[in-house]
Amino acid sequence: MSNYQQRLVRLCALLLSLSAASPSCIAEQAEAGERLFLDNCAECHQPNGQGIRGVYPSLAASEIVRGSGADVALQLIIGRGEMPSFAGALSAAEMATLINFVRNAWGNSGEPISEATVSGLLP
Ligand code: HEC
Repeated sequence: MSNYQQRLVRLCALLLSLSAASPSCIAEQAEAGERLFLDNCAECHQPNGQGIRGVYPSLAASEIVRGSGADVALQLIIGRGEMPSFAGALSAAEMATLINFVRNAWGNSGEPISEATVSGLLP
């Protein structure tokens, strides 16, 4: 992503957390979130979010994903079992964009989390 695109995505994320995002902003966010998911998570959780039974949990039917954005952020920050921490690999803005994608893909539907909230959870 270019710097300009990154700034645009961050602005969209902010507007989204204020429930003031335009449809094109929302589409831009979802696209950026999907790219981040494919680059960082799909290897284990699979491009369709279904995971691999008995090895990698499905994010499409996960109580954690459907719970709160903060719970998903903590999974990313702390890591879990075989899943690495992404605290050094992804920025708070990227995590927020990614979490908002995962929480609204594959039949999930969740309130957006802001970059500021994710920042507050970082160690
Ligand atoms: C190396 C493989 C791997 C990668 C990459 C990975 N995960 Fe995971 N993830 C796991 C495993 C394994 C678990 C289950 C851990 C456990 O419960 O012991 C898990 C659990 C989770 C959970 C909890 C799901 C539940 O219902 O228990 C969430 C949410 C999650 N991952 C999100 C992500 C996201 C978002 C990314 C991308 C930033 C990601 N994971 C990248 C392997 C991975």
